[in-house]
Amino acid sequence: MDTGYTVAQLRAAAADAVRAPSLHNTQPWRLRLRDGGIELSVDRTRRLPATDPSGWGARIACGAALFNLRLSLAVAGTPATVRLRPYPTEPDVLARLVPDAPRPPTPTERSLYAAVPRRFSNRAPFWPDPVPAEARWRLGEAARAEQCWLELVIGTTAVNAFAEIARSAHRVLERDPGYRQERAEWIRREPSPDGVPAAAGGPQSEPQDLLPMRGFGGRNRAPGRDFEPEPLVAVLGSAGNTTTDQILAGQALQRVLLTATDAGLSVSMLSQPIEVPGAREALRLSLGRFGTPQMVMRIGYGQPGVATPRRDIDDVLDLPVSVAPAAGLPTPS
Ligand SMILES: Cc1cc2nc3c(=O)[nH]c(=O)nc-3n(C[C@H](O)[C@H](O)[C@H](O)COP(=O)(O)O)c2cc1C
Repeated sequence: MDTGYTVAQLRAAAADAVRAPSLHNTQPWRLRLRDGGIELSVDRTRRLPATDPSGWGARIACGAALFNLRLSLAVAGTPATVRLRPYPTEPDVLARLVPDAPRPPTPTERSLYAAVPRRFSNRAPFWPDPVPAEARWRLGEAARAEQCWLELVIGTTAVNAFAEIARSAHRVLERDPGYRQERAEWIRREPSPDGVPAAAGGPQSEPQDLLPMRGFGGRNRAPGRDFEPEPLVAVLGSAGNTTTDQILAGQALQRVLLTATDAGLSVSMLSQPIEVPGAREALRLSLGRFGTPQMVMRIGYGQPGVATPRRDIDDVLDLPVSVAPAAGLPTPS
């Protein structure tokens, strides 16, 4: 197939791409069709200057959206060949997807794709049931399939050491008024196509909590409704920390999240120890790994929840004028 993707294919894949997670649900991506290829760019206007000064978080989110794009096109029978950062002079274009030879989707692609609409960040306490070995293995394989690693933090001592690093990073961030203001600006108390709905923000933290949860204005907890005493903490990392490494890590993150959803698991993300450089280095050393930690996840069995809203795909597509929807234009009288 060498004719390229169509606008209809772009629109269908975009609807899946935008289901990816992003810092504060900022959705910092744009999509377009150019010379038959689908191109994914980072949307600088939706970056968080105080929380994400380097653009790491926006690139992770775009990588996650790229994984959904790949999956969506593969399940439609039109898989893509991907080039990361295809244009040296256009650094914001993170990926270009062109049609590969058509083939039916694999069983793994089908099951991961089915998990796309079901995945959501579950910030509530999980049940104490341990995550079985087979599921842990699948999560590690998911990261490896996308050229990244997943390190499970096992044992009370290791989890406590991790919690100490995470809490100190949390304290550093909370001292920054710009960080606090940005978070407040992205909490939504009314229906909105972006930002974190207060109802999805998880419960208020309590002094006895082991892990620091980023507060999104959630409710107070019912007495006794504490977080699981031995959370499964997983650190996702990449070989290096270039822009390309971060795009790879975003794809690996989404593959891990969808694999978890497919296995009936819930996940919440915890990126404070990634956002504070000293904490990130302490985390890397504590794992005894080469490479760079890119995300931390808390994984377990949670209560059902609902997906958070997304912007309309017309707000993220850059279509040529000739195919842009005319809706909303005044009709000449
Ligand atoms: C790079 C990145 C960092 C994130 N950090 C956190 C975090 O520290 N705490 C948290 O509760 N959620 C975190 N999230 C999850 C987002 O808030 C979440 O994806 C977004 O609100 C959309 O909701 P959804 O995941 O339910 O679709 C992070 C997501 C990304 C992509």
